[in-house]
Amino acid sequence: MKEKEMNWQNKKIINEVKQEIDSFLKKKFFLLGDYTKCFQESFAKSQNVKYFMGLSSGTVALQLLLRALQLSKGSKVLVSSFCPIPTIMSIYEAGYIPKFVDINVKTLNIDISNLEKSYDTDCQAVIAVHIFGKLCKMSDISLWCKTKGLLLVEDACQAVNSNHKDFSIAEHSLGAAMSFYPTKNLGAWGDAGGILTNDELLKNKINYLRNYGLNESFESESMGGNYRIDELQAMILLKKLPLQAQDMKNRDSILDFYIKSLGIDKLQMEKDEGYHNKHVISYLLESSVDREKYRTFCKENGLKESFFYEHPIYKEKGIEKGAFLKNCEDVCSRIINLPNNNKNQKVVSFLKEL
Ligand SMILES: Cc1ncc(COP(=O)(O)O)c(C=O)c1O
Repeated sequence: MKEKEMNWQNKKIINEVKQEIDSFLKKKFFLLGDYTKCFQESFAKSQNVKYFMGLSSGTVALQLLLRALQLSKGSKVLVSSFCPIPTIMSIYEAGYIPKFVDINVKTLNIDISNLEKSYDTDCQAVIAVHIFGKLCKMSDISLWCKTKGLLLVEDACQAVNSNHKDFSIAEHSLGAAMSFYPTKNLGAWGDAGGILTNDELLKNKINYLRNYGLNESFESESMGGNYRIDELQAMILLKKLPLQAQDMKNRDSILDFYIKSLGIDKLQMEKDEGYHNKHVISYLLESSVDREKYRTFCKENGLKESFFYEHPIYKEKGIEKGAFLKNCEDVCSRIINLPNNNKNQKVVSFLKEL
């Protein structure tokens, strides 16, 4: 990796990590050792949740959460139509079928009115995906789930550090899957993820499921696998945890710049709802604007043009077809992402002229 391309958090910890490698090599446990234990405790505390179990990725975290629901094979799981592939693949992996839900154009998340439209009596659970780090209205969704007898889990893979004025992540659900994919706000130097939960039973279950199904006495408790977080990744994440406050400040000031320059409406931000981590800063173009012009502008100016998400998830290969959800189609056709690591005046000027 070239020094100039290094993200500021990586730059900040690199010397410390180099020094730590010496003591790392002297440790007795290369897996599920002190770094994992310490990261799990510190991370849970930082997110205001009782427990965190480190796992090998966010996808694995979602799969294990869904398996823990113990739904019958083929059960339907209600899920946002505006989410990435791993969310949906995890549903299939767990043996269930996704039932796509339209989104609210303002929040880009699911809400009760959309859940109600997609619900049928084969649905057994809901995944609330906190897209771009914007939290779904969990208190409302959990109440709705209770009236229907549905179980609820969260895909908080983009929502590290996000909170809501009325609740924490994992407060209204069995648990929340987290990802530390390298490009996340808290990113590992490879794959890592885990589950935040306030449920002690689930925490204990994940503890042996991630380690071939073995308990502390190395006896088999159930079918498990190798889903452990890597001890080296836990060390990196532990070093980055104290940098999160600065990261949040930086992102706040970048979003403020875009709000002041472009207005709040097209940025889909709700005021006073809590803290949104700005994992992605999205912007909705007018439907009359040709999005390709922005793609060309990005290419010409060396910007990474990634449009999350350009296509409704139910149109991706390998995923069951059949849905047509109006808001999702509309958002996917107009959405762009703004650079979230700098206040980009060029982008602002370009968008104003469109
Ligand atoms: C919303 C969401 N769910 C699940 C995942 C999967 O996480 P991982 O890449 O750590 O497996 C990601 C992303 O990377 C994500 O953004």
